[in-house]
Amino acid sequence: MEFKEKLKLYQKGINNELEKYIRREDCPEKVLNESMEYSLMAGGKRLRPILVIATYELFKKDIKKCLPYAVAIEMVHNFSLIHDDLPGIDNDDFRHGKPTNHKQFNEATAILAGDGLLNNAYILISEDLEKAKTSEIKTKLKVFNEFTKAVDRMIAGEYVDTEYEGKEILPEYLEYIHTNKTGALLKLCVRMGAILAGCSDKELEKLTIYADKIGLAFQIKDDILSEEGNEEILGKPVGNDSALGKCTYVSKYGLEGAKEQLNKITKEAIEQLEMYGEKAEFLKQLALYIQNRNK
Ligand code: IPE
Ligand code: IPE
Ligand code: MG
Ligand code: MG
Repeated sequence: MEFKEKLKLYQKGINNELEKYIRREDCPEKVLNESMEYSLMAGGKRLRPILVIATYELFKKDIKKCLPYAVAIEMVHNFSLIHDDLPGIDNDDFRHGKPTNHKQFNEATAILAGDGLLNNAYILISEDLEKAKTSEIKTKLKVFNEFTKAVDRMIAGEYVDTEYEGKEILPEYLEYIHTNKTGALLKLCVRMGAILAGCSDKELEKLTIYADKIGLAFQIKDDILSEEGNEEILGKPVGNDSALGKCTYVSKYGLEGAKEQLNKITKEAIEQLEMYGEKAEFLKQLALYIQNRNK
């Protein structure tokens, strides 16, 4: 199957899975639930759950076992986007070609929708832990522990990103922001898929390097798209980073410099998958997709 076709298939499967967790009952917090649904189902690429599943599939076929974790990470990701767009952070009005959550609803609702999605992710994982067999519990607790720590890193990265807005920063700091705000969750996805499927320490080590590299590549590409992307295709504003004085790979190294780094890191990511041959074809293509995407 062609990469694009497979990507669409994964996206469809994930959307169906996410649907199961949407609450539509009549209750006093109905609008809050609507606002969570609004962002969760707004048309994201689903890259994070896809990474969980595709990595799991390197080792095992019964993907049902990793689905709660794939769904949970997409919930956390959407929480991070809702809060990232808030007036106190990036103050953005559009995402996925639609008004951002606080524009569509209001600021209080958006803050609480983010909190709600984060907590629903934890509910989902804790329910999976509750049902786990004794033989699985240690692995699942390890995954849960990594999950909480990755979310902690994402929040730290968002803080440093916001704190350094409009200020000159050292290259190490720029990498720190990217590694944490974006890289931590992407790395988690790969590691969750691998650990849940019972990979060896050596395999986990290599896959972690792959994950670190695509995580950094992903945010460098995000910086490039924020500068020269097509607003209509992207569904979010272009030029806002420089308007806010954000320190990005583009502001630090220029467009060409950022692209050079992106290409180098993508190549290094793909090299980590050598040992898997054909089986890792999708993950290799995914690294190229991150490098070449236009949204
Ligand atoms: C955007 O992530 C925010 C960053 C972490 C850079 P995505 O591009 O993966 O967001 P989706 O596809 O809209 O969910
Ligand atoms: C978003 O980073 C990172 C997180 C939400 C954790 P950006 O602010 O650079 O991403 P976009 O451009 O708004 O999607
Ligand atoms: Mg931001
Ligand atoms: Mg932003």
